[in-house]
Amino acid sequence: MAIISQLHCIFAAMKSFDTIIGTDVLQAIAYLQNGETVAIPTETVYGLAANALDDDAVLKIFEAKNRPHFDPLIVHVANKEQIPDYVSAIPEQAIKLMNAFMPGPITLLLKKKANIPDLVTSGLDTVAIRVPQHPLALALLNKLDFPLAAPSANPFGYISPTTAQHVYDQLHGKIPYILDGGSTNVGVESTIVGFEDEQVMVYRLGGLALDEIEKIVGPVLLNNMESSNPMAPGLLKSHYAPRKKLYFNPVVKTEFENIAVIAFDKFVDDYPKEKQVLLSEKGDLHEAARNLFSVMRQLDKSDAEIIVAVKFPDHGLGLAINDRLKRASAE
Ligand code: TXA
Ligand code: MG
Repeated sequence: MAIISQLHCIFAAMKSFDTIIGTDVLQAIAYLQNGETVAIPTETVYGLAANALDDDAVLKIFEAKNRPHFDPLIVHVANKEQIPDYVSAIPEQAIKLMNAFMPGPITLLLKKKANIPDLVTSGLDTVAIRVPQHPLALALLNKLDFPLAAPSANPFGYISPTTAQHVYDQLHGKIPYILDGGSTNVGVESTIVGFEDEQVMVYRLGGLALDEIEKIVGPVLLNNMESSNPMAPGLLKSHYAPRKKLYFNPVVKTEFENIAVIAFDKFVDDYPKEKQVLLSEKGDLHEAARNLFSVMRQLDKSDAEIIVAVKFPDHGLGLAINDRLKRASAE
């Protein structure tokens, strides 16, 4: 209730900005210390960041993204040593994953301490926490005395941004500053991992492949939900979607003339070559993941009527790519 009335006030006072794209970490810090939002690069996708300990600053994220307020945010910290400041318990398995993969494209769900506002976790007793592996994000976090709450810097439900220009295209006027750290290296969001008793659970397939995680903690359970009211709304069945209709792994050829096809490393038979975009000619799933969202965006802007995406190999980052394409294709 309190959250809803706060949202209402903020939305009523919505400000408009002359959004700047720049590389000035000090300027980004100044905005963040002032309780404003700043889009920041990470190794996965760009995030829209604000002081995680300041309710009013966090509300500005929801405002800019048009995000439903019940959607919890990831808290970004400068190093794994800071995690105990915000969580009340760290299971043994979590410590192993922290040592193996932080900084990197993994987010851990851990019991939160009271200093993390309920607005950030939307009332859940766990907080999603991660250490991004990007020099500008780390430079920023190291100079701040608060952690950054940051969802991906796209309007709710749309494709995540992998360049500063993507962020600008969709959020200009709504945020003051975009810290430009080039194209993101991983290209899909972090893998979200939680713990139920001794069991390691994966709630979102992402930039860190399952087999990498299993090498460290043994078999994990995948709980990559599809319901319309999931625990992790990034798992909404329809998410990461372009505006155009996307058909994932269609069994029959579509009747559309003007289509664009997303394929992995080889052109597929059923469509003309010139309509196809290969995400990695050398068959590298990392490269394909890195290119996925910008190709989806590019095709969304093209004159193709529909987008067709073929199925990627069902291993490594191919799992996360197929997951994103499947959600992008959902009604
Ligand atoms: O790579 C990433 O994770 C990017 C960069 C910017 O860090 N961030 C990102 O945030 O993808 P976002 O908000 O787009 O997706 C975070 C997902 C959402 O689906 C949210 O529901 C889920 O994490 N989440 C956050 N806190 C949670 C919690 N306490 N329990 C369960 N799910 C949670
Ligand atoms: Mg997102």
